[in-house]
Amino acid sequence: MNNELLKDKVAIVSGGTSGIGKAIALKFGEQGAKVAVLGTHAERGKQVCSEIGANSAFYKLDVSNYEDVQSTLKEISDHFGPVDILVNNAGITRDQLLIRMSEEDWDQVMAVNLKSCYNLSHGCMRPMIRNRSGKIINISSVVGLTGNPGQTNYCASKAAMIGFTKSLAKEVAARNIHVNCIAPGFIETPMTLEMTEAQKEITLSHIPFGKMGKPDDIANAALFLASSLSDYITGTVLPVDGGMVMY
Ligand SMILES: NC(=O)c1ccc[n+]([C@@H]2O[C@H](COP(=O)([O-])OP(=O)(O)OC[C@H]3O[C@@H](n4cnc5c(N)ncnc54)[C@H](OP(=O)(O)O)[C@@H]3O)[C@@H](O)[C@H]2O)c1
Repeated sequence: MNNELLKDKVAIVSGGTSGIGKAIALKFGEQGAKVAVLGTHAERGKQVCSEIGANSAFYKLDVSNYEDVQSTLKEISDHFGPVDILVNNAGITRDQLLIRMSEEDWDQVMAVNLKSCYNLSHGCMRPMIRNRSGKIINISSVVGLTGNPGQTNYCASKAAMIGFTKSLAKEVAARNIHVNCIAPGFIETPMTLEMTEAQKEITLSHIPFGKMGKPDDIANAALFLASSLSDYITGTVLPVDGGMVMY
């Protein structure tokens, strides 16, 4: 495959310090993009950037904080130029049955998973409209489509990302801005390490391919949606899940 699919594009990857986001940041770097990696763990972020090389920089921030996001976006565009690609990937789980779920766990998941999408997409919108070009990729989840007991907060945030994607896609298609979602299934990352063996066994029994996915499986889909290969696609949800939902 052409190894410069994103040559000189400026890409932001939220939650680029770990798991899926790290794989996306590395893949985009390999394909010639200038990559801004966002996260809260500076050491991990700097490590990812050292793997990508000179065309990358780490920005330490909590993506749920509107003001911090706007000032970081300014720093990024001052350093790299206008943003071409935004990947809203940062996410957390705070699993609990609804009856026992605290207000804090609800609010935190909504803030990190969903409000961050508003914060970053809102801040990138004017420059993308001005350039008549942009690719926004939101990392949702198959459980945003199916629901999952113990994850009302997480599933609500991931389903909302799908509504956000489709609405924004309709708003900005005329400006040549593409907005799509990836719905990962069950992927080997620090997030799924938290699952018990029993939970993993049940989940695996619902995957036709019978195995977990790798972060790189999601990064390949993100590369497709970030590149010109997907120029006639917007407002879609691409499950990358070993056949789990067949949406
Ligand atoms: N793994 C799966 O099976 C799976 C399935 C479906 C969807 N997903 C989604 O894929 C995305 C990545 O998940 P993952 O599995 O790669 O998990 P992960 O390894 O735990 O990574 C989560 C990332 O989010 C970042 N993050 C969390 N809170 C943040 C905050 N307040 N501000 C900035 N960054 C923050 C973390 O950065 P720091 O550590 O630097 O804070 C980290 O880079 C998430 O949105 C998740 O919901 C994962």
